[in-house]
Amino acid sequence: MKEAVHKVIFLPSQRTVTAKRGEILLDVLRRESQPISAVCGGRGNCGKCKVLLDEGSEAFPPTLTEARLLTRDEIAAGYRLSCQFKVMTDVRVKTEDPEVDSAVSKPSLPKIMIREISPQVRLEEFSLSKPDIHDQVSDYSRLISALVTERPRIDRLNLLRNLPRIIREMDYRGRAVMYGSEVIDILPFSDESGIFGVAIDIGTTTIAVYLADLKSGEILAVRSAPNPQSSYGQDVISRIDYTMKRDKGVDELRAAVLTTLNKLIDDLCRESEVSKERIYDTSIVGNTTMIHILLGISPERIASSPFIPAFTGGKVFESRELDLEESIPSSKIYIMPGISAYVGSDITAGILSSGFV
Ligand code: FES
Repeated sequence: MKEAVHKVIFLPSQRTVTAKRGEILLDVLRRESQPISAVCGGRGNCGKCKVLLDEGSEAFPPTLTEARLLTRDEIAAGYRLSCQFKVMTDVRVKTEDPEVDSAVSKPSLPKIMIREISPQVRLEEFSLSKPDIHDQVSDYSRLISALVTERPRIDRLNLLRNLPRIIREMDYRGRAVMYGSEVIDILPFSDESGIFGVAIDIGTTTIAVYLADLKSGEILAVRSAPNPQSSYGQDVISRIDYTMKRDKGVDELRAAVLTTLNKLIDDLCRESEVSKERIYDTSIVGNTTMIHILLGISPERIASSPFIPAFTGGKVFESRELDLEESIPSSKIYIMPGISAYVGSDITAGILSSGFV
């Protein structure tokens, strides 16, 4: 038998989505990235997930929890708690919490004193001898042996696939983009469009993203937005609790943060007229729970004694491994090291930048 579905119309945008009959309205709002505060994570304790139903309220009578957390006047006016309300007919819904705003904000650029920069990414010029019948060295070996970096290598298969075409189009002269000793891209010798990096701070409440010029160290632009995981709980314990109760809980929270990261990076590139392909290095910090969720690792053991994280950072990944290839296709991603379950890389990055160590 075909499952019954109903329309959910968001106000004032009139955007219309569908929900299965009996689906919890808060789940629909989360799935559709609608701003909603859910401080207790949907457990019916906080009363913060209040919405105004313009139509459809009567099809599911108020629960005891709603009667406890809402006034009679509110219920009469059509207010309901989205974590309690089940969609049993078409509904028109307006989210009510002005504190939760999905808008991206554009804070002023931080005044960062750049004493000295030593980026992991740098450019190395090369000029190769052309092969002939007496010099049949492979393209790979020809390039590697021409670089002054110690023990250079190419790990990216896609770069290796394109290497023969690239070096011939460039007439055997160009610039290797080095990430440590790995060649991660090859640019034309005369290319002046620059190399860039992104720094990301995933806070429990706010996500901030900075775009930096890796040659000068200049911060070009900054964007921030509320962490959309707030609709799953205001604090890390509520979010861990959510991941433990739902089969795909980690995936849901992860998808929410990835959507925001992709949008913020896109906005930064557009504003600064920087090509996303020229972002080669991305550093991410956050508390240990935020980092676990970003990597799709269950944070379950952070919440209970003896509080053992699966991972405290200090690793490099490719953007596609984190599903961020849409916004930073060429970038390596460095997850900065934290210390423990409750001392994350947001703290260690702060200590590092303060000059204490
Ligand atoms: Fe807390 Fe609904 S009562 S999220």
